[in-house]
Amino acid sequence: MSTFRSIAWEGGRLVLLDQRRIPEEKTFLELETPGEVAEAIRTMAVRGAPAIGAAAAFGVVLAARRGEDLEAADARLRASRPTAVNLFWALDRMKRVWAGFAGGREELVGALEAEALKIAEEDVAANKAIGRNALPLIPDEAKILHHCNTGSLATVDYGTALGIIRIAHEAGKKVHAFLDETRPRLQGARLSAWELRELGIPHTVIADGASGHVMQKFGIDLVVVGADRIARNGDTANKIGTYNLALAARYHGVPFYVAAPTSTIDLETAAGAEIPIEERSPEELTHCGPVRVVPEGSPVYNPAFDVTPAELITAIVTEAGLAYPPFEESLPALVRKAKEE
Ligand code: MRU
Repeated sequence: MSTFRSIAWEGGRLVLLDQRRIPEEKTFLELETPGEVAEAIRTMAVRGAPAIGAAAAFGVVLAARRGEDLEAADARLRASRPTAVNLFWALDRMKRVWAGFAGGREELVGALEAEALKIAEEDVAANKAIGRNALPLIPDEAKILHHCNTGSLATVDYGTALGIIRIAHEAGKKVHAFLDETRPRLQGARLSAWELRELGIPHTVIADGASGHVMQKFGIDLVVVGADRIARNGDTANKIGTYNLALAARYHGVPFYVAAPTSTIDLETAAGAEIPIEERSPEELTHCGPVRVVPEGSPVYNPAFDVTPAELITAIVTEAGLAYPPFEESLPALVRKAKEE
């Protein structure tokens, strides 16, 4: 397993880097049942839209290996998290293999394993293509603002928005990344900072509320974020706080880019209002680690994602190329192109 690869299929088990423990510890989970995979997704041991899609695909393989009911495993995996469409996209791909399969159990396991491995490998290739496609957008010595974690940890490997920063660095562009800490789960502070440190890419962690100030003070050149689901009109669901960042970027005239594989584009969802937004446990807000920071009895609201309206998005970078407004036209064209490639 390479330093970052979040997901590996080893000896019939799904090996996951436990993202809840980073940066304190680098520990791996070895999962053998679809129920364990669903639980790892629900508790965010594995997280990030493409990573949970690939993990769920291997969850189906595990169910088949154990001779479990695939319909039940599929339903359990689908119920693990609601917002990232990659989860459903990957499970739909797996279902196309198992529904009505004519051969025996061993052949079915082989066919499912091949499909899950294909999903994982395609993700890595898509991420590298996203990085290459974005390269012309990144000026030399760019100051780039990033939200959440969209790197190797959030994908099978390499990353989407963070992958763009990585590829620009590797191309010698001397970029500097400002990383939103990303309350309440701190994916920016814990995970993105860890990845960029390991890669030797210059970065500074900031509080989420500091992004407007940082744009004003340092002159950010571009914002780049990932996505959990992109509706047909370009409205984009991503980690909570993305919408605020897009508003600040618009005020400061900073280009706002979304980077995602075409598997994150959901053409069946017309607009952002239709995207299901996950609400997570109040404890993520009431506590910092074991310490209670909100008074007992104060109500909290903890949406894990928000929707950035398409009009705040400059362009969407995918493996098949860039989509510009009007997204109703450019996104279906890119999805068609990706299918042909
Ligand atoms: O709740 P998370 O950590 O799974 O949310 C992750 C994000 O919002 C990412 O930006 C998105 O999934 C894209 S990851 C390439």
